[in-house]
This record gives sequence, C-alpha cells and structure tokens, in this order.
Amino acid sequence: MTDSLSIRDNRTGKDYEVAITDGTIRAADLKQIALDGDPGLATYDPGFVNTASCRSAVTYIDGDAGILEYRGYPIEQLAEKSSFLEVSYLLLNGELPTSSQLSTWTHDVTTHTFLHENLKQFIQGFRYDAHPMGMLMASVSALSTFYPDASNISDADNRQLQITRLIAKMPTLGAFAYRHGLGKPYVYPDNDLSYVENFLAMLFKMSEPKYAADERLVKALDVLFILHADHEQNCSANAVRSVGSSQVDPYSAIAAGIGALYGPLHGGANEAVLRMLRRIGTTDNVSDFIAGVKSGKEKLMGFGHRVYKNYDPRAQIIKKACDDVFEVTGVNPLLKIARELEKIALEDDYFVSRKLYPNVDFYSGLIYEALEFPPEMFTVLFAIGRTPGWLAQWSELVQDKEQKIARPKQIYTGFRTREFIPMSDR
Ligand code: SDX
Repeated sequence: MTDSLSIRDNRTGKDYEVAITDGTIRAADLKQIALDGDPGLATYDPGFVNTASCRSAVTYIDGDAGILEYRGYPIEQLAEKSSFLEVSYLLLNGELPTSSQLSTWTHDVTTHTFLHENLKQFIQGFRYDAHPMGMLMASVSALSTFYPDASNISDADNRQLQITRLIAKMPTLGAFAYRHGLGKPYVYPDNDLSYVENFLAMLFKMSEPKYAADERLVKALDVLFILHADHEQNCSANAVRSVGSSQVDPYSAIAAGIGALYGPLHGGANEAVLRMLRRIGTTDNVSDFIAGVKSGKEKLMGFGHRVYKNYDPRAQIIKKACDDVFEVTGVNPLLKIARELEKIALEDDYFVSRKLYPNVDFYSGLIYEALEFPPEMFTVLFAIGRTPGWLAQWSELVQDKEQKIARPKQIYTGFRTREFIPMSDR
C-alpha cells in the first residue's frame, strides 16, 4: 500500500497516480487529468470547507476532541498560567520567552502604544455613532501611511518593528474609537500600567489622577485576550494571508482581517449574541425563539463552528470566567437566558444532529457587558486579542517559500462572447 490515490478518468479510460501528503492531495496534481484541449481538473470548494491553504506551525485544533493548542501548549494551561503578552510572544516566536525576553518584549510594546497626533484628527472625522469596528479597520489601514517603511516586508527587523507597533497600538485605537463615540476626551497611554490595565485606563479614566482597575477584571480580560489570540485558518486569518500574499504592508493585511472579523458569522457574533439575548428578554421566551431557529427564521448566534463539532474549549473557560467576573460586578441577568438556551439546544436534535455547540462568542459578550463595554465594542476586543495570531500567520506566510499570491480559479457561469447591442436596439 502506498500513500497515493489511483484515479481512473472514466471519460478517457486513463489511469493516474496522485500522491497523498499530510492527509491532502495537491490540487495542482489534478491538472494532468484532462480531456484533449482542456486545462485539466481543478477542485471546487466554496468557503474552503475542505481545502488546506498553507502549512502552519502556529495553532493546532482538533474539532472533534475539542482541542486547541498554541505552538503545542494547551489553551487551558495558557489561560491559567500565562499572560496575553507572553502568549503573544509565544505565537510570534514559537517558544515561551525567558524572563529577560519577556521584559524586553513588554518594554517594546509598552513604549509603542502612542499614536501619531494626526490619527486623532482622523478618528475625529467619523460620526459620533460610527461603529468602532469600522473606525478600527480604517485607522489600522491609515497607520500604513504613517509607516511607509512597513512595506519592506522581507527585512526581519522591520517586520518585528511593525508587529510590535500593531500589538501596542490596537488597544489605543480601540479606546480612542470608544471615547470618540461618547464625545469624551482621549486618554493617552500610561506606561506605568500593564497592557490590559492601560487599555482599561484609556477606555474608562476620567478626572482621577491614576486609573485603578479591579485586578480580577484585569485578569478576566487578559484571559479573554489569550483565548482569542489565534485560531488557525479562520475567516479573518485567511483574509490576512490572502491580502498579505500580494506582499502589501502588514497594516493593510491586518485591516483586511479586521474587516473579515467584523461580520456577524465571525467575530461580530459576540455582539449579535448580546442583542439576541436582549431580544429574547426572559427565559419564558426561549422555547419560542428556539422554534424560530429550527424553522430557519434565524441562527442561534454563538452556536456552531466550522471546526469544533464538540464544545469549543474556549467557551468552557469563558463560562467559568463569567463566575469570577460576576463576583465583582454582580450576575448579568442575561446569563440565565444564555444558560437556558444552551440547555435546550444541547438536548434538541436539531442542534445535536448538526453538532452545534456554544462557541467562543456565546458567553464572551456577557463578560464584556459586565465589564461595562457596549455591544459594539465586543468585536473590537476580539480584534485586539486576535492581533498576535493574525501577525504570526502573516509572518509565517511572508517567510513561506511555497506560498504564492492568492488567485483562485472559478467556474464561469456567465454568457460567452456576444455582440454589443446599440442603445437603439435595447
Ligand atoms: C468565530 O473559524 C473560526 O475559527 C472562527 C472563530 C475564531 O476563533 O476565529 O472560532 C470565531 O467566528 C466563531 C463563530 C461565531 N459565529 C456565530 O456564532 C454565528 C452563528 N454560527 C453559524 O453562522 C455557523 O455555525 C458558522 C458560521 C460558525 C459555521 O458555519 P459552517 O461551518 O459553514 O456551517 P453551516 O453554515 O454549513 O451549518 C451547517 C448546518 C446548516 O444547517 P442545514 O443547512 O444543514 O440544515 O448547521 C446550521 C446551518 O443552517 N447551523 C445553524 C447554526 N450554525 C449552523 N443553525 C442555527 N444556528 C446556528 N448558529
């Protein structure tokens, strides 16, 4: 037995051998299977449901077993023992940092949190009710105009500088977008604070000389950032890689990832979950809502996953983190509705047969709301957490000799050559 496929083309009677490598066949190996004069076979896979686009060593997921590992470290251990900046280092460099590497990394990120003053004016240009994800996407791509040297992506030191800038500035951009919406003055970064404390200060500080965040809330948000840090080839990572494959600067590639994350089927789901829970209103309405979902009226937001056909391991951890946060803030009344939804869905064949379980977005919104974030900020939090993962994927892409510019084929379904029709004849 060999690692290969024997393919018989019944149209011609010809036989072909195609190698199997790492559980895949190379789509290019199918081109040889051709009728006279045609370009040969290609694969057709809307949404890339069964297509590997790259080789990656960053994140491993086993959807059936509910396993998630960053560079081989189980998410459960990292959530319990690590910090977001340490996990960012791990994702970007492949190994946990030594203490001197971590302090250098922390110093570098801390000293890059400020924004060019022109970016404040840029953000001022948005309406007061602009969605913060739209502002974040626009301002990250605007950053590419402040750092033109970022286009020199083949230089490792330059990549490192832009990666550091992006991880450092995402919380500042997110906080400025939030403050703009409230008409509140911007709070500049405070280098005495940790990454998450500084983010909370830029969001919520008013006239007090020093913002003092509750340590338990800082820890909860740090864990949430860890849980969101990467997730292999999800929709937004695919967007970053696809745009990055044109060798554009990392700000433009990350802006594309933010755009993909914005969608309600992806990172926008956490905001949609909160709105859904509010709309349901009480546990009495849950069974009618579930009936509506089963009749195809709408999706149960925060449920289902392309890869996890079991409970999303992140959802398990977030559900536990809810208790820690609610100890400080008081229980979110929507938690009861969420728990009732989950209970009914996990017993109902419609969901069980489709292997629909709570995903990372189902409970995260409850914590974000308890931390006093408005729903429109939830996906901004997801984006801040996901930035090191996007950059680790981008960095891998840029150094992968096998990668080429992304340019898929299509199945053409339109008209073929026809004569132009003059207006008088239309
Ligand atoms: C994230 O990929 C990642 O890793 C993403 C992410 C990450 O960390 O980057 O994990 C983050 O995006 C989590 C997902 C957040 N999205 C939502 O919660 C939105 C609701 N979920 C769905 O839209 C859906 O489950 C997806 C988009 C998450 C996955 O979609 P798939 O894999 O394309 O599955 P599908 O749409 O083909 O669904 C299969 C069946 C369909 O029913 P049938 O046509 O077979 O009858 O399940 C149904 C779907 O209608 N279905 C749902 C459902 N999700 C799927 N029905 C009701 N409610 C849902 N939530």
